[in-house]
Amino acid sequence: MRKQLIAANWKMYKTILETKDFIDKFLILIKSVNINNREIVLCPPFTSLYVASEMLKNTNIKLGAQNMYIEEKGAFTGEISPVMIKELNCEYVILGHSERRKYFNETDEFINKKMLMALKYGLIPIVCIGETLQEREENKTFEVLKYQVENSLANLTHEQAAKIVIAYEPVWAIGTGKNATPQQAEEAQSFIREVYANMYGKDVAERIRILYGGSIKPENFKEIISQKNVDGGLVGGASLDPESFFKICCV
Ligand code: 13P
Repeated sequence: MRKQLIAANWKMYKTILETKDFIDKFLILIKSVNINNREIVLCPPFTSLYVASEMLKNTNIKLGAQNMYIEEKGAFTGEISPVMIKELNCEYVILGHSERRKYFNETDEFINKKMLMALKYGLIPIVCIGETLQEREENKTFEVLKYQVENSLANLTHEQAAKIVIAYEPVWAIGTGKNATPQQAEEAQSFIREVYANMYGKDVAERIRILYGGSIKPENFKEIISQKNVDGGLVGGASLDPESFFKICCV
């Protein structure tokens, strides 16, 4: 059985004060229910990781970073290393988000290097893939997903391969209010698992969690997460408000 995972990707939102305010409110809400069957992860900006880490001690809410560099340390002005993230009690790191691919020219090969480094330092990578609207309209969705899986997720040992998390985030669904239908998510995600099974075997592929991301809301998530190959969600906009993220965690 795969444990469902719901992660909040705050992107470049929330100052330290706003982070504190969110976590104060969210912890009150989440303590009122008993969610043992799901992992819940917050991924705030780097500047908020320390305060979030302090506040989440002794809770079962986990922490993740939104990015990292491929070296442990060195003259890489402006970058953050996996060691630094790990020191902040992060268990997860989001890699290869479509915004990083688009605005920072990250390629699948580069994302692959990051993923290997993340694993080396004991972080669980949440590797994002997904087609653009144009690619979908040109019927290239499967081709694109296959390329991204085979290249960004290459070179793993079987043990490593069983640990990672994949997030299927169709680019046309991110921040647009137009989520993939549950059927579209299931179709893409069962395909992703199949490609992964061809790389690392069926047993490994059945163990990893594949999240859906793109315009998740409390109202649309229940049907999406009910799909066989949807093991959770990576939530952007709707994770910024404690009530709405709480509702998503509870659907
Ligand atoms: P939205 O939920 O705002 O569409 O963003 C999705 C996303 O990019 C999560 O990583």
